[in-house]
Amino acid sequence: MDLTIRPRRLRGSETLRRMVRETRVDAASLIYPMFVTDGKNRVEPIEAMPGQFRYTVDRLPEALDAVAEAGVGSVMLFGIPEKKDPVGSEAYAPDGVVQRAIQRAKLHMPELYVIGDVCMCEYTSHGHCGVLCDHEVDNDATLPLLAKTALSQVEAGADMVAPSDMMDGRVRAIRELLDQNGHADTPIMSYAVKYASSFYGPFREAAGSAPAFGDRRGYQMDYHNRREGIKEALLDVDEGADIVMVKPAMNYLDIVRDVRERVNVPVGAYSVSGEYAMVKAAAGKGMIDEAKIVCEMAVAAFRAGADVYLTYYAKELARYIREGRIG
Ligand code: PBG
Repeated sequence: MDLTIRPRRLRGSETLRRMVRETRVDAASLIYPMFVTDGKNRVEPIEAMPGQFRYTVDRLPEALDAVAEAGVGSVMLFGIPEKKDPVGSEAYAPDGVVQRAIQRAKLHMPELYVIGDVCMCEYTSHGHCGVLCDHEVDNDATLPLLAKTALSQVEAGADMVAPSDMMDGRVRAIRELLDQNGHADTPIMSYAVKYASSFYGPFREAAGSAPAFGDRRGYQMDYHNRREGIKEALLDVDEGADIVMVKPAMNYLDIVRDVRERVNVPVGAYSVSGEYAMVKAAAGKGMIDEAKIVCEMAVAAFRAGADVYLTYYAKELARYIREGRIG
């Protein structure tokens, strides 16, 4: 056979395959999302997300020890308050659950990088991501509350804030309030390109944040749209976002690539609760090899152009990387 070019030549051994690999994965790029809840001495399993838990603040330190031990250096915290009200007061209460969790985390492990998720839906009685006017989320009335929430988290010690609400103009509102209060150096990672997705189902069970009526399509993006993702990402960069995130990850890698090619800031990809739940369910039935699937999903996100990967599998991935099963 007269074949000059034989791609298989570079696939002949593991050493060679690793040598010419195009995508490498580093545990430093992983962020582990965690849930904290009011109360004492409880570690509650989240049914729809086997292996994930809601921690009361007093039980958070031991969970963070496990994160650090696994080799993950960064967490994102979601607060689930006992009391919810129409204006989500607990989201910006200085002694709210997430603020106390952030304080505790930084006290326990100052070197751990702690990111606060900024949104209202875990804190509002109606489960929407902002305050309502009739049956609609009022964009402009929500902005000051989001900014207050971000500031309260930074004052509690958060290293970074991550607004996930999808209100227009929130990055600018947050940036301005942080700057006015002496936090010009605190970065914002915006959930810039967040689609209205059914893949968030298990999270809403975890956070008790399913909307009481309607859905989130009035503010989260229509998943038929690709150009609009670029528009959202560029807008957030313009408003001062330091990192822009695409969410979900697995079914949205085309968007990760699009955004990567259009912005000069780091791009995040969030492998969401539904992705985690599907892998867990299939693995639990012995239908797939969990570790191999998790590695393949992670590499795919980085190959698509992600610089940062948020995943409930962060601890396992860090271990797989250390063991050379991925990388
Ligand atoms: C809050 C928020 C959600 C997620 C992250 N931040 C839920 C939602 O928008 O309904 C989803 C995360 C996941 O599914 O893992 N707005």
